[in-house]
Amino acid sequence: MPYTIGLFDSGIGGLTVMREIRRRFPHHHMIYLGDTKHVPYGNRHPEELIRLAFTIVDFLVAAGANIIVDACNTTSALALPLLKKAYNLPFIGVIEPGAREALRLSPNKRIGVWATQATAASQAHLQAIKSLDPEAQVFLQACPCLVPLIEAGKTRGPEVERAVREYMAPLEQQDIDTLILGCTHYPFLTPVIKKMAQKGIKIVDPALPTAAELEGFLPPENALSGEKGQCLFYVTGDPGRFAEIAFQLLGWPELKYTQQIKLEKLPLAL
Ligand code: DGL
Repeated sequence: MPYTIGLFDSGIGGLTVMREIRRRFPHHHMIYLGDTKHVPYGNRHPEELIRLAFTIVDFLVAAGANIIVDACNTTSALALPLLKKAYNLPFIGVIEPGAREALRLSPNKRIGVWATQATAASQAHLQAIKSLDPEAQVFLQACPCLVPLIEAGKTRGPEVERAVREYMAPLEQQDIDTLILGCTHYPFLTPVIKKMAQKGIKIVDPALPTAAELEGFLPPENALSGEKGQCLFYVTGDPGRFAEIAFQLLGWPELKYTQQIKLEKLPLAL
């Protein structure tokens, strides 16, 4: 039997995680919730983020999810430990997989992290990396301009290049050899980041190791029938706008059926 994987984020960012999970596990069902009414999460108070994450997980569980991927670094940093305690189902976040992958790739253990203000302030990446390698040097950089640009569909051009240069410079001064994209929106900027960053800096998109981590929780793909899993998309804000920008970036036809929900309203199970 295929599983139903529930994923959530503040907006389109978590789709970068869903993209890798769909590539790897195409026969499982997926329900995605973008809390676009409250995007960006990065400048919200931790208590509010925890409350939003619990409401979202209630929704995904009621919709039939049997595993949850917290496809948002900000809620992975601030709410995930509490969610794991409160619900009796498996949760995967994006911070630890990214930390492990960065340590695996980094030659000199000088690791930069781009993140939202709330994630940077939580120091969750710093703690995750240091718990695996206390000698590693971690440099956190909050990037408040990036999520609004990406949510507006701007993933290249002079404005994006200026912001990327601004956030890269302090980390290059610290001589980082590896950069974690510590917000799930940022991988949409990978071509610009690769163009602007000093040559040789390794770019870590935590979506890949996060998808790999699901392996241990799902029935193997070859045990499932050949049918593709269904993907459902929900947002708390304007569904047309989300669908248009996400389709422009990913080209998934199912996005045009994105539905708007009020979080207290429960959807039909798959
Ligand atoms: N994509 C999210 C993250 O990984 C949230 C960004 C935001 O809404 O500020 O942190």
